[in-house]
Amino acid sequence: MLRYLMAGESHGPALLGIIEGLPAGLPLSPGDLAPDLARRQSGHGRGARQRLEADEAEILAGVADGVTTGAPLALRIANRARPERGDPARPPRTIPQPGHAELAGALKYGFANVEWVAERASARETAMRVALGGVAKKLLAAAGIEMLGYVVAIGDVAMPALDLSWADLSARADASPVRCPDPAASQAMAARIDAAQAAGDTLGGIVEVAAVGLPAGLGSYVHPDRRLDARLGAALLSIPAIKGVEIGQAFANSRLPGTQVQDPIRLQAGHIVRTTNHAGGLEGGMTTGQPLVIRAAMKPIPTTRQPQPSVDLATGREAETVYRRSDTCAVPAASVIAAAAVAWVLAEAVVERCGGDRIEELVERVTALRQAPMPWERAMYRGDMP
Ligand SMILES: Cc1cc2nc3c(=O)[nH]c(=O)nc-3n(C[C@H](O)[C@H](O)[C@H](O)COP(=O)(O)O)c2cc1C
Repeated sequence: MLRYLMAGESHGPALLGIIEGLPAGLPLSPGDLAPDLARRQSGHGRGARQRLEADEAEILAGVADGVTTGAPLALRIANRARPERGDPARPPRTIPQPGHAELAGALKYGFANVEWVAERASARETAMRVALGGVAKKLLAAAGIEMLGYVVAIGDVAMPALDLSWADLSARADASPVRCPDPAASQAMAARIDAAQAAGDTLGGIVEVAAVGLPAGLGSYVHPDRRLDARLGAALLSIPAIKGVEIGQAFANSRLPGTQVQDPIRLQAGHIVRTTNHAGGLEGGMTTGQPLVIRAAMKPIPTTRQPQPSVDLATGREAETVYRRSDTCAVPAASVIAAAAVAWVLAEAVVERCGGDRIEELVERVTALRQAPMPWERAMYRGDMP
Protein backbone atom coordinates (compact mmCIF):
# COMPACT_ATOMS: atom_id res chain seq x y z
CA MET A 1 0.00 0.00 0.00
CA LEU A 2 1.30 3.42 -1.00
CA ARG A 3 0.21 6.42 1.07
CA TYR A 4 1.21 10.02 1.77
CA LEU A 5 0.70 12.81 4.27
CA MET A 6 1.44 16.49 3.81
CA ALA A 7 1.69 19.57 6.02
CA GLY A 8 2.60 23.22 5.60
CA GLU A 9 1.06 26.67 5.24
CA SER A 10 1.30 29.09 2.35
CA HIS A 11 3.61 31.47 4.23
CA GLY A 12 5.07 29.06 6.80
CA PRO A 13 8.71 28.03 6.61
CA ALA A 14 8.15 24.97 4.39
CA LEU A 15 5.86 22.34 2.91
CA LEU A 16 6.41 18.78 4.11
CA GLY A 17 5.48 15.45 2.56
CA ILE A 18 5.98 11.84 3.63
CA ILE A 19 5.45 8.80 1.40
CA GLU A 20 5.18 5.35 2.91
CA GLY A 21 5.13 2.12 0.94
CA LEU A 22 7.65 2.76 -1.84
CA PRO A 23 9.59 -0.29 -3.00
CA ALA A 24 13.36 -0.22 -2.46
CA GLY A 25 15.79 0.34 -5.30
CA LEU A 26 14.00 3.10 -7.24
CA PRO A 27 16.61 5.65 -8.36
CA LEU A 28 15.51 9.06 -7.00
CA SER A 29 17.10 12.48 -6.63
CA PRO A 30 15.78 16.04 -6.18
CA GLY A 31 16.67 16.57 -9.86
CA ASP A 32 13.92 14.08 -10.82
CA LEU A 33 11.33 16.28 -9.16
CA ALA A 34 12.66 19.65 -10.38
CA PRO A 35 11.20 19.80 -13.95
CA ASP A 36 7.56 19.44 -12.85
CA LEU A 37 8.07 21.84 -9.93
CA ALA A 38 9.35 24.41 -12.45
CA ARG A 39 6.46 23.66 -14.83
CA ARG A 40 3.96 24.25 -12.00
CA GLN A 41 5.47 27.65 -11.35
CA SER A 42 5.47 28.80 -14.96
CA GLY A 43 2.60 29.57 -17.31
CA HIS A 44 1.19 32.87 -18.53
CA GLY A 45 -1.18 34.37 -15.99
CA ARG A 46 0.50 33.44 -12.74
CA GLY A 47 0.92 36.13 -10.11
CA ALA A 48 3.92 37.78 -8.47
CA ARG A 49 4.43 34.96 -5.96
CA GLN A 50 5.94 32.68 -8.57
CA ARG A 51 8.73 35.21 -9.10
CA LEU A 52 9.59 34.90 -5.41
CA GLU A 53 9.66 31.11 -5.23
CA ALA A 54 12.12 28.73 -6.90
CA ASP A 55 10.72 25.45 -5.70
CA GLU A 56 13.22 22.72 -4.92
CA ALA A 57 12.34 19.49 -3.14
CA GLU A 58 14.85 18.30 -0.55
CA ILE A 59 14.90 14.59 0.22
CA LEU A 60 15.33 14.23 3.98
CA ALA A 61 14.87 10.47 4.41
CA GLY A 62 14.22 7.25 2.54
CA VAL A 63 16.98 7.45 -0.08
CA ALA A 64 20.55 6.11 0.18
CA ASP A 65 23.15 6.06 -2.57
CA GLY A 66 20.59 7.60 -4.93
CA VAL A 67 17.95 4.88 -4.56
CA THR A 68 14.91 4.42 -2.33
CA THR A 69 15.49 2.16 0.68
CA GLY A 70 11.88 1.11 1.30
CA ALA A 71 11.80 3.36 4.38
CA PRO A 72 9.39 6.34 4.46
CA LEU A 73 10.49 9.06 2.05
CA ALA A 74 10.45 12.57 3.54
CA LEU A 75 10.35 15.67 1.32
CA ARG A 76 10.62 19.38 2.14
CA ILE A 77 10.03 22.42 -0.07
CA ALA A 78 11.01 25.74 1.50
CA ASN A 79 8.71 28.77 1.15
CA ARG A 80 10.45 31.99 0.26
CA ALA A 81 7.39 34.25 0.02
CA ARG A 82 6.45 36.17 3.13
CA PRO A 83 2.94 37.55 3.69
CA GLU A 84 2.33 40.69 1.65
CA ARG A 85 1.73 43.05 4.52
CA GLY A 86 4.52 41.99 6.87
CA ASP A 87 4.37 39.24 9.45
CA PRO A 88 2.34 38.58 12.64
CA ALA A 89 1.72 42.21 13.48
CA ARG A 90 -0.39 42.68 10.35
CA PRO A 91 -4.05 43.38 10.98
CA PRO A 92 -6.41 40.42 10.61
CA ARG A 93 -8.19 40.06 7.26
CA THR A 94 -11.89 39.83 8.01
CA ILE A 95 -13.56 40.19 4.58
CA PRO A 96 -13.81 36.72 2.99
CA GLN A 97 -13.28 36.32 -0.76
CA PRO A 98 -16.31 34.73 -2.51
CA GLY A 99 -15.28 31.46 -4.19
CA HIS A 100 -12.43 30.85 -1.73
CA ALA A 101 -12.50 28.61 1.34
CA GLU A 102 -12.41 31.66 3.59
CA LEU A 103 -16.06 32.13 4.63
CA ALA A 104 -16.96 28.46 5.08
CA GLY A 105 -13.59 27.85 6.82
CA ALA A 106 -14.01 30.82 9.19
CA LEU A 107 -17.55 29.70 10.11
CA LYS A 108 -16.45 26.09 10.56
CA TYR A 109 -13.36 26.69 12.72
CA GLY A 110 -14.53 29.87 14.47
CA PHE A 111 -11.87 32.23 13.08
CA ALA A 112 -12.49 35.94 12.52
CA ASN A 113 -9.20 36.25 10.62
CA VAL A 114 -9.80 34.52 7.28
CA GLU A 115 -6.03 34.49 6.69
CA TRP A 116 -5.86 31.44 8.97
CA VAL A 117 -8.08 29.60 6.50
CA ALA A 118 -6.32 30.89 3.39
CA GLU A 119 -2.90 29.87 4.71
CA ARG A 120 -3.81 26.20 4.39
CA ALA A 121 -6.58 26.34 1.75
CA SER A 122 -4.23 28.15 -0.65
CA ALA A 123 -2.98 26.17 -3.63
CA ARG A 124 0.58 26.62 -2.36
CA GLU A 125 0.29 23.05 -1.03
CA THR A 126 0.07 21.82 -4.61
CA ALA A 127 3.84 22.32 -4.92
CA MET A 128 4.23 19.37 -2.55
CA ARG A 129 1.59 17.39 -4.45
CA VAL A 130 3.65 17.88 -7.59
CA ALA A 131 6.76 16.62 -5.78
CA LEU A 132 4.86 13.57 -4.46
CA GLY A 133 3.44 13.01 -7.94
CA GLY A 134 6.99 13.27 -9.29
CA VAL A 135 7.98 10.30 -7.13
CA ALA A 136 4.92 8.41 -8.40
CA LYS A 137 5.86 9.27 -11.99
CA LYS A 138 9.37 7.94 -11.40
CA LEU A 139 7.94 4.64 -10.14
CA LEU A 140 5.52 4.43 -13.07
CA ALA A 141 8.27 5.25 -15.59
CA ALA A 142 10.33 2.34 -14.23
CA ALA A 143 7.34 0.15 -15.11
CA GLY A 144 7.01 1.68 -18.61
CA ILE A 145 4.08 4.01 -17.81
CA GLU A 146 4.32 7.67 -18.94
CA MET A 147 2.18 10.60 -17.97
CA LEU A 148 1.48 14.05 -19.44
CA GLY A 149 -0.70 17.01 -18.44
CA TYR A 150 -1.58 19.89 -20.76
CA VAL A 151 -4.17 22.60 -21.29
CA VAL A 152 -7.06 22.17 -23.74
CA ALA A 153 -9.10 25.29 -22.94
CA ILE A 154 -8.74 28.63 -21.18
CA GLY A 155 -11.90 30.70 -20.77
CA ASP A 156 -13.82 30.36 -24.03
CA VAL A 157 -10.72 29.51 -26.14
CA ALA A 158 -10.53 25.75 -26.81
CA MET A 159 -7.78 23.82 -28.57
CA PRO A 160 -8.82 21.98 -31.80
CA ALA A 161 -8.51 18.17 -31.86
CA LEU A 162 -4.88 17.20 -32.60
CA ASP A 163 -3.31 13.95 -33.74
CA LEU A 164 0.22 14.15 -32.33
CA SER A 165 2.87 11.66 -31.26
CA TRP A 166 3.56 11.45 -27.52
CA ALA A 167 6.93 13.18 -27.98
CA ASP A 168 5.37 16.06 -29.97
CA LEU A 169 2.54 16.48 -27.49
CA SER A 170 5.03 16.74 -24.65
CA ALA A 171 7.45 19.08 -26.48
CA ARG A 172 4.66 21.37 -27.67
CA ALA A 173 3.08 21.61 -24.20
CA ASP A 174 6.48 22.56 -22.75
CA ALA A 175 7.09 25.14 -25.50
CA SER A 176 3.70 26.83 -25.05
CA PRO A 177 3.30 29.80 -22.66
CA VAL A 178 0.08 28.17 -21.42
CA ARG A 179 1.02 24.43 -21.77
CA CYS A 180 -1.34 24.02 -24.73
CA PRO A 181 0.06 21.82 -27.53
CA ASP A 182 -1.60 23.92 -30.28
CA PRO A 183 0.47 27.06 -31.05
CA ALA A 184 -2.41 29.14 -32.48
CA ALA A 185 -4.71 28.28 -29.57
CA SER A 186 -1.83 29.02 -27.14
CA GLN A 187 -1.54 32.54 -28.51
CA ALA A 188 -5.26 33.14 -28.31
CA MET A 189 -5.32 31.80 -24.73
CA ALA A 190 -2.43 34.07 -23.67
CA ALA A 191 -4.24 37.05 -25.23
CA ARG A 192 -7.45 36.15 -23.32
CA ILE A 193 -5.46 36.02 -20.07
CA ASP A 194 -3.97 39.46 -20.80
CA ALA A 195 -7.45 40.86 -21.46
CA ALA A 196 -8.79 39.35 -18.22
CA GLN A 197 -5.86 40.78 -16.28
CA ALA A 198 -6.36 44.24 -17.80
CA ALA A 199 -10.02 44.06 -16.76
CA GLY A 200 -9.10 43.09 -13.18
CA ASP A 201 -10.68 39.70 -13.76
CA THR A 202 -9.60 36.01 -13.81
CA LEU A 203 -10.07 32.90 -15.98
CA GLY A 204 -10.48 29.15 -15.59
CA GLY A 205 -10.23 26.40 -18.18
CA ILE A 206 -9.86 22.70 -18.89
CA VAL A 207 -6.78 20.47 -18.51
CA GLU A 208 -6.25 17.00 -19.91
CA VAL A 209 -4.04 14.24 -18.51
CA ALA A 210 -3.00 11.28 -20.64
CA ALA A 211 -1.15 8.15 -19.50
CA VAL A 212 0.26 5.45 -21.76
CA GLY A 213 1.81 2.04 -21.11
CA LEU A 214 -0.82 0.95 -18.58
CA PRO A 215 -1.43 -2.77 -18.28
CA ALA A 216 -5.06 -3.89 -18.36
CA GLY A 217 -6.72 -4.64 -15.02
CA LEU A 218 -5.53 -1.92 -12.61
CA GLY A 219 -8.36 -1.00 -10.23
CA SER A 220 -11.44 -3.17 -9.82
CA TYR A 221 -15.21 -3.32 -10.20
CA VAL A 222 -15.67 -5.50 -7.09
CA HIS A 223 -16.22 -2.65 -4.62
CA PRO A 224 -17.06 1.03 -5.14
CA ASP A 225 -13.89 2.35 -3.49
CA ARG A 226 -11.68 0.19 -5.71
CA ARG A 227 -13.02 1.66 -8.96
CA LEU A 228 -10.15 3.52 -10.59
CA ASP A 229 -12.45 6.07 -12.26
CA ALA A 230 -13.86 7.01 -8.84
CA ARG A 231 -10.39 7.26 -7.33
CA LEU A 232 -9.07 9.37 -10.20
CA GLY A 233 -12.11 11.63 -9.97
CA ALA A 234 -11.58 12.13 -6.24
CA ALA A 235 -7.88 12.88 -6.72
CA LEU A 236 -8.59 15.50 -9.39
CA LEU A 237 -11.46 17.06 -7.45
CA SER A 238 -9.18 17.41 -4.43
CA ILE A 239 -7.17 20.03 -6.34
CA PRO A 240 -8.29 23.54 -5.35
CA ALA A 241 -10.63 25.11 -7.96
CA ILE A 242 -11.13 21.85 -9.93
CA LYS A 243 -14.91 21.46 -10.15
CA GLY A 244 -15.51 18.92 -12.92
CA VAL A 245 -13.96 15.71 -14.24
CA GLU A 246 -14.53 13.97 -17.57
CA ILE A 247 -13.25 10.46 -18.31
CA GLY A 248 -12.65 9.87 -22.01
CA GLN A 249 -15.31 11.63 -24.09
CA ALA A 250 -17.90 11.31 -21.32
CA PHE A 251 -19.97 14.40 -22.12
CA ALA A 252 -19.94 13.89 -25.90
CA ASN A 253 -20.71 10.17 -25.34
CA SER A 254 -23.79 11.09 -23.32
CA ARG A 255 -25.34 12.66 -26.42
CA LEU A 256 -24.72 9.65 -28.73
CA PRO A 257 -26.37 6.23 -29.16
CA GLY A 258 -24.53 3.28 -27.60
CA THR A 259 -23.41 1.72 -30.87
CA GLN A 260 -21.43 4.85 -31.66
CA VAL A 261 -19.83 5.09 -28.22
CA GLN A 262 -18.64 1.63 -27.18
CA ASP A 263 -15.09 0.75 -28.26
CA PRO A 264 -15.20 -2.35 -30.50
CA ILE A 265 -13.37 -5.49 -29.29
CA ARG A 266 -11.42 -6.92 -32.22
CA LEU A 267 -8.61 -9.39 -32.90
CA GLN A 268 -5.26 -8.41 -34.37
CA ALA A 269 -2.51 -11.03 -34.82
CA GLY A 270 -4.16 -13.23 -32.20
CA HIS A 271 -4.45 -10.44 -29.65
CA ILE A 272 -7.50 -8.58 -28.42
CA VAL A 273 -7.41 -4.93 -29.45
CA ARG A 274 -9.78 -1.97 -29.12
CA THR A 275 -10.12 0.06 -32.29
CA THR A 276 -11.28 3.30 -30.61
CA ASN A 277 -10.89 4.80 -27.14
CA HIS A 278 -14.07 6.75 -26.42
CA ALA A 279 -14.01 5.32 -22.89
CA GLY A 280 -10.69 6.98 -22.08
CA GLY A 281 -8.95 3.75 -21.11
CA LEU A 282 -11.27 2.66 -18.29
CA GLU A 283 -14.12 0.15 -18.19
CA GLY A 284 -15.76 -1.13 -15.00
CA GLY A 285 -13.34 0.90 -12.90
CA MET A 286 -10.33 -0.88 -14.44
CA THR A 287 -7.71 0.04 -16.97
CA THR A 288 -8.35 -1.53 -20.38
CA GLY A 289 -4.72 -1.26 -21.52
CA GLN A 290 -5.70 1.67 -23.76
CA PRO A 291 -4.29 5.15 -23.04
CA LEU A 292 -5.97 6.80 -20.04
CA VAL A 293 -7.48 10.17 -21.00
CA ILE A 294 -9.08 12.31 -18.32
CA ARG A 295 -10.02 16.00 -18.20
CA ALA A 296 -10.60 18.40 -15.33
CA ALA A 297 -12.45 21.73 -15.37
CA MET A 298 -10.99 24.57 -13.30
CA LYS A 299 -13.15 27.48 -12.22
CA PRO A 300 -11.78 31.04 -12.54
CA ILE A 301 -9.47 32.17 -9.71
CA PRO A 302 -11.66 33.61 -6.91
CA THR A 303 -9.46 36.63 -6.02
CA THR A 304 -10.01 39.46 -8.50
CA ARG A 305 -8.68 43.01 -8.69
CA GLN A 306 -12.30 44.06 -9.29
CA PRO A 307 -13.91 44.18 -5.84
CA GLN A 308 -16.60 41.59 -5.08
CA PRO A 309 -19.49 41.80 -2.62
CA SER A 310 -18.84 40.27 0.80
CA VAL A 311 -19.42 40.85 4.51
CA ASP A 312 -16.87 42.06 7.07
CA LEU A 313 -16.82 39.36 9.77
CA ALA A 314 -15.48 41.90 12.30
CA THR A 315 -18.25 44.50 11.88
CA GLY A 316 -21.16 42.45 10.54
CA ARG A 317 -21.60 44.97 7.70
CA GLU A 318 -21.57 44.42 3.95
CA ALA A 319 -18.16 45.23 2.48
CA GLU A 320 -16.22 44.82 -0.74
CA THR A 321 -13.23 42.51 -1.03
CA VAL A 322 -9.74 44.02 -0.92
CA TYR A 323 -7.31 42.71 -3.57
CA ARG A 324 -4.17 40.82 -2.56
CA ARG A 325 -1.41 39.19 -4.60
CA SER A 326 -3.02 36.57 -6.82
CA ASP A 327 -2.96 34.65 -10.10
CA THR A 328 -5.04 35.74 -13.10
CA CYS A 329 -5.12 32.21 -14.50
CA ALA A 330 -3.52 29.07 -13.08
CA VAL A 331 -4.84 26.54 -15.62
CA PRO A 332 -1.31 25.79 -16.99
CA ALA A 333 -0.13 25.03 -13.43
CA ALA A 334 -3.27 22.96 -12.84
CA SER A 335 -2.36 20.73 -15.79
CA VAL A 336 0.89 19.82 -14.03
CA ILE A 337 -0.85 19.30 -10.69
CA ALA A 338 -3.54 17.17 -12.35
CA ALA A 339 -0.89 14.94 -13.96
CA ALA A 340 0.74 14.55 -10.52
CA ALA A 341 -2.62 13.63 -8.96
CA VAL A 342 -3.32 11.05 -11.68
CA ALA A 343 0.22 9.67 -11.36
CA TRP A 344 -0.30 9.18 -7.63
CA VAL A 345 -3.51 7.15 -8.09
CA LEU A 346 -1.96 5.05 -10.85
CA ALA A 347 1.14 4.38 -8.73
CA GLU A 348 -1.12 3.28 -5.86
CA ALA A 349 -2.99 0.97 -8.23
CA VAL A 350 0.25 -0.50 -9.65
CA VAL A 351 1.65 -1.11 -6.16
CA GLU A 352 -1.64 -2.74 -5.08
CA ARG A 353 -1.76 -5.01 -8.13
CA CYS A 354 1.92 -5.84 -8.47
CA GLY A 355 3.41 -5.09 -5.04
CA GLY A 356 6.98 -6.04 -4.39
CA ASP A 357 9.55 -4.95 -1.83
CA ARG A 358 12.00 -4.12 -4.60
CA ILE A 359 11.39 -2.09 -7.72
CA GLU A 360 12.66 -4.92 -9.95
CA GLU A 361 9.99 -7.27 -8.55
CA LEU A 362 7.32 -4.69 -9.31
CA VAL A 363 8.64 -4.07 -12.84
CA GLU A 364 8.78 -7.81 -13.53
CA ARG A 365 5.16 -8.25 -12.47
CA VAL A 366 3.92 -5.29 -14.52
CA THR A 367 5.76 -6.68 -17.55
CA ALA A 368 4.20 -10.10 -16.95
CA LEU A 369 0.74 -8.49 -16.77
CA ARG A 370 1.30 -6.77 -20.11
CA GLN A 371 2.41 -10.04 -21.69
CA ALA A 372 -0.32 -12.17 -20.11
CA PRO A 373 -1.61 -14.89 -22.47
CA MET A 374 -5.03 -14.42 -24.06
CA PRO A 375 -7.79 -16.29 -22.15
CA TRP A 376 -8.02 -19.08 -24.78
CA GLU A 377 -4.27 -19.69 -24.50
CA ARG A 378 -4.44 -20.57 -20.80
CA ALA A 379 -4.52 -24.17 -19.57
CA MET A 380 -7.44 -23.45 -17.28
CA TYR A 381 -9.69 -20.44 -17.72
CA ARG A 382 -12.15 -19.48 -15.02
CA GLY A 383 -14.82 -18.99 -17.63
CA ASP A 384 -14.78 -22.81 -18.19
CA MET A 385 -15.78 -23.56 -14.63
CA PRO A 386 -19.38 -24.57 -13.87
C1 LIG B 1 -2.31 26.30 -9.13
C2 LIG B 1 -3.42 27.06 -8.46
C3 LIG B 1 -3.24 28.39 -8.17
C4 LIG B 1 -4.25 29.11 -7.55
N1 LIG B 1 -4.04 30.46 -7.30
C5 LIG B 1 -5.01 31.18 -6.70
C6 LIG B 1 -4.80 32.56 -6.43
O1 LIG B 1 -3.75 33.13 -6.74
N2 LIG B 1 -5.80 33.24 -5.84
C7 LIG B 1 -7.00 32.64 -5.49
O2 LIG B 1 -7.87 33.31 -4.98
N3 LIG B 1 -7.20 31.34 -5.73
C8 LIG B 1 -6.25 30.58 -6.33
N4 LIG B 1 -6.47 29.26 -6.59
C9 LIG B 1 -7.79 28.66 -6.28
C10 LIG B 1 -8.05 28.53 -4.80
O3 LIG B 1 -6.98 27.86 -4.13
C11 LIG B 1 -9.37 27.78 -4.57
O4 LIG B 1 -10.39 28.32 -5.36
C12 LIG B 1 -9.77 27.86 -3.10
O5 LIG B 1 -8.86 27.14 -2.31
C13 LIG B 1 -11.20 27.36 -2.82
O6 LIG B 1 -11.32 26.00 -3.16
P1 LIG B 1 -12.37 25.51 -4.26
O7 LIG B 1 -12.27 26.47 -5.42
O8 LIG B 1 -11.90 24.15 -4.63
O9 LIG B 1 -13.73 25.53 -3.67
C14 LIG B 1 -5.48 28.49 -7.22
C15 LIG B 1 -5.65 27.14 -7.50
C16 LIG B 1 -4.64 26.41 -8.13
C17 LIG B 1 -4.84 24.97 -8.44
